[in-house]
Amino acid sequence: MQNIIEINHLFYRYEKDTVLEDITLSVPEGSFLAIVGPNGSGKSTLLKLILGLLKLQKGNISLFGQEISKFKEWHKIGYVSQKANSFNTGFPATVFEVVASGLTKKLGLFTFFKKEDTDTVLTALEAVGMQEFRNRNIGELSGGQQQRVFIARALVSEPKVLILDEPTVGVDAENVDAFYEMLGDLNKHQGITLLLVTHDIGTVSDKVTHVACLNKHLHFHGGTKEFEASRGEGLSAFYGHNVHLLTHHHKHGGVLQ
Ligand SMILES: Nc1ncnc2c1ncn2[C@@H]1O[C@H](COP(=O)(O)OP(=O)(O)OP(=O)(O)O)[C@@H](O)[C@H]1O
Ligand SMILES: [Mg+2]
Repeated sequence: MQNIIEINHLFYRYEKDTVLEDITLSVPEGSFLAIVGPNGSGKSTLLKLILGLLKLQKGNISLFGQEISKFKEWHKIGYVSQKANSFNTGFPATVFEVVASGLTKKLGLFTFFKKEDTDTVLTALEAVGMQEFRNRNIGELSGGQQQRVFIARALVSEPKVLILDEPTVGVDAENVDAFYEMLGDLNKHQGITLLLVTHDIGTVSDKVTHVACLNKHLHFHGGTKEFEASRGEGLSAFYGHNVHLLTHHHKHGGVLQ
């Protein structure tokens, strides 16, 4: 199986501060990877490097088997940033319009909207369970609902991989599980590779296939089973030594204690 993302000996620094050190990590096609780590551990920086939003300084990144500097098929990669869901109530766009704006990447700004484009938007809204909200104003939705709409927006360009930076900020505890369920469906049923930065490791560990624990260095990278067997050793390295994972054995998801 092809590795969709391959990172080799990656280093990154902002001025004097090295924030990523010798990261080697690959994301196989069809996998669902959760990246966890404390605040300031370099998670968003790593995503921005993968997305080409920050310039490579040292090390290599390949996307779909091609070196990032030569990569052009950016429509294959969907991205929802850390603060996507911060629209205020006055923002003048409907849910449908926000999702449709994701098509401009593919269509260009001034092309006409065809029936099939409408279908694409509605299908994307359905995939995230938001079709009934299509005529609502984006600013009137809850943070979690807005986040789903932004995922739908990323889906309309039919990405092969979806990269999400802390998508559950603004999703309340009862809905976090349903949110990950929806992501799990995208992964399983639509075959979309998912890469997600999160703090909800307890809740996601039964939904994801792989886990990476990052704190400047990569402290752990492996399959979910291996991660659970390690009893959070990768996490203990930075969250302290008494990390217990309460995972799917608990109906309402896990917490990090
Ligand atoms: N543009 C920047 N210029 C200088 N330093 C930066 C910049 N962006 C981030 N940093 C620093 O780099 C480190 C890593 O930041 P990053 O945003 O990647 O962390 P993070 O793991 O995503 O944190 P969080 O969980 O809070 O989102 C932090 O110490 C941060 O202060
Ligand atoms: Mg971040």
